[in-house]
Amino acid sequence: MGTAGKVIKCKAAVLWGMNQPFSIEDIEVAPPKAKEVRVKILATGICRTDDHVIKGAMVSKFPVIVGHEAVGVVESIGEGVTTVRPGDKVIPLFLPQCRECNACCNPEGNLCIRSDLTGRGVLADGTTRFTCKGKPVQHFMNTSTFSEYTVLDESSVAKIDGAAAPEKACLIGCGFSTGYGAAVKTAKVTPGSTCVVFGLGGVGLSVIMGCKAAGASRIIGVDINKDKFQKALAVGATECISPKDSPKPISEVLSDMTGNTVQYTFEVIGRLETMVDALSSCHMNYGTSVVVGAPPSAKMLTYDPMLLFTGRTWKGCVFGGWKSRDDVPKLVTELLEKKFDLDQLITHTLPFKNINEGFELLYSGQSIRTVLTF
Ligand SMILES: NC(=O)c1ccc[n+]([C@@H]2O[C@H](COP(=O)([O-])OP(=O)(O)OC[C@H]3O[C@@H](n4cnc5c(N)ncnc54)[C@H](O)[C@@H]3O)[C@@H](O)[C@H]2O)c1
Ligand SMILES: [Zn+2]
Ligand SMILES: [Zn+2]
Repeated sequence: MGTAGKVIKCKAAVLWGMNQPFSIEDIEVAPPKAKEVRVKILATGICRTDDHVIKGAMVSKFPVIVGHEAVGVVESIGEGVTTVRPGDKVIPLFLPQCRECNACCNPEGNLCIRSDLTGRGVLADGTTRFTCKGKPVQHFMNTSTFSEYTVLDESSVAKIDGAAAPEKACLIGCGFSTGYGAAVKTAKVTPGSTCVVFGLGGVGLSVIMGCKAAGASRIIGVDINKDKFQKALAVGATECISPKDSPKPISEVLSDMTGNTVQYTFEVIGRLETMVDALSSCHMNYGTSVVVGAPPSAKMLTYDPMLLFTGRTWKGCVFGGWKSRDDVPKLVTELLEKKFDLDQLITHTLPFKNINEGFELLYSGQSIRTVLTF
């Protein structure tokens, strides 16, 4: 254990400000304090949520190290850490599970009080473990995986089966689990039902996989980029449409297509208009619509309350509703048992230093998930 207790110098992709490219920098990563874990990252995926920080749709201080969908190996642990040891393979959790707060203690809850969705940018003790050019660098959602090494609170670390391949299992850290859980856990899609998924990125395709696993008989994918259709059909969509192809509102198009039987809709884009479109598109009485796309910060939404008065259910979920530390290791076991296939979601694999190229692939709509390897 040559590095335990010492500052580690390594490479990280630092964002110095909004709307700027990542800069690969030499940084210093301080040793973990009490109840903290230092992790060497092995593979990390690129998720749209990371881009929300670049664009300012998600609030953050700068400089910051983003990235939140990864697999790593524990390098060292701080005092009092009991659930992982050096050498353990782990998934960092952007949604922690402290097992003490009221959300963690409620059987239906998962939004742990220690989550950092509002951009505090520090670990539980209120400080950062990263320094670059003498300046402190902010953490992101308790994860910061666009770095060779990161430090996490113990409540943000799940130990997983060592047999899992990092470049695949990393998707369980966000995209796959979020989408799959939105269908099977949050919406609780029923066999034989009709589902509609708005947005066919990595998370939307994972919703489709969840709807299929739950036994939905019709799964309609909606996207303005028709290049996404082939992949959506491959993972389980039964048909795909673009809202641009009809002058009618998408809710009417879907009602006509299905004889007004859409039971579940999912917004997996993160736009206010499509959140209302998805709500309007589920059955006026027994329909359920789930907001999965991250809402742009500081934006308000107006909608006709008649949409709810008639009986619809409108809900949302973070991380698919899973209790992260309990459920992530189980999802990894299911991956190893081949209950689902993540290969279909991974379109590109690049070395970490090519991170800006990975984001270009996201912007051009060419990638579903790009995985960066170290
Ligand atoms: N709730 C959570 O815990 C959670 C977790 C991960 C990601 N997210 C959010 O989920 C959303 C999707 O993430 P992703 O990584 O799959 O993103 P992505 O950018 O890969 O996919 C979004 C898709 O939406 C499509 N789209 C854009 N505008 C559209 C429109 N007007 N109508 C129809 N389709 C449109 C795009 O063509 C793209 O295929 C993001 O907002 C992300 O921040 C939420
Ligand atoms: Zn994500
Ligand atoms: Zn908690």
